[in-house]
Amino acid sequence: MNISGSNILLLGANGGIGSALARVLSARGARLLLAGLGEESLKVLVESLPNDAQSMEIDIAQADQREALLGRAGTYLGSIDILINAVGVLDFLPFEDIPPQRIEQTFQINTIAPILFMQSALPGMRAQGHGLIVNIGSTFGSIGFPYFSVYSASKFALRGFSEALRRELADTGIDICYVAPRATKTPINNSRVMAMGEATKMNMDPPEKVAQQIARAIENDKKEVYLGQPESFFARVNQLLPRLVDRALFKQRRIMEPYARS
Ligand SMILES: NC(=O)c1ccc[n+]([C@@H]2O[C@H](COP(=O)([O-])OP(=O)(O)OC[C@H]3O[C@@H](n4cnc5c(N)ncnc54)[C@H](OP(=O)(O)O)[C@@H]3O)[C@@H](O)[C@H]2O)c1
Repeated sequence: MNISGSNILLLGANGGIGSALARVLSARGARLLLAGLGEESLKVLVESLPNDAQSMEIDIAQADQREALLGRAGTYLGSIDILINAVGVLDFLPFEDIPPQRIEQTFQINTIAPILFMQSALPGMRAQGHGLIVNIGSTFGSIGFPYFSVYSASKFALRGFSEALRRELADTGIDICYVAPRATKTPINNSRVMAMGEATKMNMDPPEKVAQQIARAIENDKKEVYLGQPESFFARVNQLLPRLVDRALFKQRRIMEPYARS
């Protein structure tokens, strides 16, 4: 799909990947409605962009705020050509230490609220006869990772949803693209994740690189993209030979554990 001239609604716009993506998309000529938490940082981002953009602060977990955002998209963008979901929260903790409320919140923010928003945006896309929904997943949405259990599960769900909806909408002109970055240097990763990443020699991409790869996936009409090697290879291996990945992660878990518990 063409980015230039398209109307794009970006959820999670002031995150590390979201803000880098906003810059890339705006530089390529898109008109953007930027949504996320943090009114001031969203405004600063809008002012830094080379093309038409507006922002709206929303907590995606709140139904009334999602509805207000859809209304704003109608008045500002007119039609949503591309809807990008780059919201997310993450915990790097032993499963037993994640508070029950946080488990619910993680699914709400990473999975349920974006799905509900997509459902409300779909009638408009159907009426216009075209649209693209881009869900930012994760390598951990294909490889269940120790100490990221709830985050992994929320991204597995988002990947499954994206695949099912793509198949359901196959002849409607509406497409779904699922992009799975590997670890990326953004605020979602706290200092314990960063330290664990160093100890396990985890590859970490800059968000600007990830944003360029997402834009390329959009322009090339990709359905599912896994970013980075060898992570994208391991995502495939995990489907075919999961016991092999069990063994590799058994060793890695020992290095990870003190960081997850610290
Ligand atoms: N960084 C990585 O290693 C990595 C790897 C693979 C996939 N991803 C995925 O990439 C996407 C973007 O993450 P990121 O790396 O850019 O992290 P990030 O910088 O933390 O961005 C996530 C954004 O989501 C926002 N958000 C959280 N809760 C929200 C809510 N209730 N309503 C609205 N917005 C909310 C955050 O706002 P606040 O900052 O104000 O909380 C933040 O702007 C996420 O889906 C993440 O899972 C990240």
